[in-house]
Amino acid sequence: MPTLTINGKKVQSREGAYVLEAARQAGVEIPTLCHFEGLEPWGGCRLCQVQITKDGWDGWKKMVVGCMFPVEEGLIVLTETDEVRETRRVVLDLLLARCPDTPLIRTMAKEYGVERTSYVSNPEPTDCILCSLCTRVCDHIGVSAISTADRGAGKEIAPPFHEPPAACIGCLACAEICPTDFIPYTTSHTTRSIWGREFEMLRCEDCGRAHITKAQAEHHAANRAETTDVPQEWFRYCDSCKRKQQASRFPAVPQLV
Ligand code: SF4
Ligand code: FES
Repeated sequence: MPTLTINGKKVQSREGAYVLEAARQAGVEIPTLCHFEGLEPWGGCRLCQVQITKDGWDGWKKMVVGCMFPVEEGLIVLTETDEVRETRRVVLDLLLARCPDTPLIRTMAKEYGVERTSYVSNPEPTDCILCSLCTRVCDHIGVSAISTADRGAGKEIAPPFHEPPAACIGCLACAEICPTDFIPYTTSHTTRSIWGREFEMLRCEDCGRAHITKAQAEHHAANRAETTDVPQEWFRYCDSCKRKQQASRFPAVPQLV
């Protein structure tokens, strides 16, 4: 297990961990926008940059992306130097130019002293920060219904050819992981709409609540062997009713007298 130093504190980390994980384990906060535990690190937003050095480097330091830089024995990590804060400030300044009205970006930029972007503000403001969490989670569950489209200032998240994506299962993973709530959807007792498609909802056999799309249940059933061992049965009830059912199977706790 490699031992490293983060902001002067010795930290023993897991073999194969990245600096971000080791820092969080030591209670050191590093800001992130494109990181999500459970998804492979991507290194896209560059907000988690930190400086590293080692004994014997004669004081030389290097800027690395914390979510993708592997820990190693003797590594010295600095997360709050002037250089690190300046790098993050520039990243947030640029993001604020793209997303001048996005509350999350405005709040984070303000923490680094940026109230108004010093770059040319986007004439068509958007709340999409291009973190790719939505496309990565969609790939992760084996659907890949959406991806990045176009390049440069016109880059965006979209289904192929901007048409309602045939592969989408209406699971909402993209909308729920989005840090800026950019992806719109609606869910009623019978249907859900997202990315221009409409999905039939399955209702909980116990409470009647619409809780999952039929397409999502079918997707999990079809991919059960490769992805999860959850039986199709599992989708007959909503999460809340499943919890109640499980609780009712617990043995009664003896009363203390
Ligand atoms: S839609 Fe949301 S999750 Fe997807 S890239 Fe944009 S900000 Fe990130
Ligand atoms: S969180 Fe590391 S690059 Fe985005």
